[in-house]
Amino acid sequence: MKIFLDSSDISEIKLINKSGLIDGITTNPSLLAKQEGNFKKILKTIATEVKGPISAEVTATHSNKMIEEAKILQKIAKNIVIKIPLTLDGLIACKYLTSKKFKVNVTLCFSPSQALLAAKAGATFISPFIGRLDDVGENGVQLIQDIKTIYKNYNLKTEILAASIRSLDHVRQVMQIGADVITIPPKIFGDLYRHELTDKGLESFLSDWKKSGKQIS
Ligand code: E4P
Repeated sequence: MKIFLDSSDISEIKLINKSGLIDGITTNPSLLAKQEGNFKKILKTIATEVKGPISAEVTATHSNKMIEEAKILQKIAKNIVIKIPLTLDGLIACKYLTSKKFKVNVTLCFSPSQALLAAKAGATFISPFIGRLDDVGENGVQLIQDIKTIYKNYNLKTEILAASIRSLDHVRQVMQIGADVITIPPKIFGDLYRHELTDKGLESFLSDWKKSGKQIS
């Protein structure tokens, strides 16, 4: 499973990317709006730092205007993936852009039928928002399972990008289902590797070793 970071914060991205474990980045208008400075420069810096797909979202709502914005965003860097909301105009723009070889991440997906249409429109990625579904009392993880089954039934190649991740439990569940990609907020990255028993175990191994006076040399 590929791991993307859901962030537009360059220092946070640089820090975590040092791990060599980050396969791409997802941004959205809300995340970019929080950052000081020119958004194109921010996206360019992110796209230089991380070699994988960097999602940058259009903000127009009409398909023609979305396509215009997509062309502007694509010029920022080769690894930019155009993020388009799951509306009818978004699907029209997605179909056009993918026919022109753009990579498109269809975002704000909340139902299996939306995911089917995005795949038919040629989406490279579909982004179901798990946390936001949970917030309204629905089962976000179940949507990932449903889309996995549907894409398998019809041999659809769109990659399932689990988004709006709120907890380590979300991560565990989407890994078990077999989502292709997960995009995680930076604060959850640490939870992926930290474990209390790892820290305790290491402490006792090192203390026993020190007491023995032995050295690896
Ligand atoms: C994904 O592409 C979105 O940027 C993101 O996952 C939204 O998450 P949120 O619901 O926590 O804002």
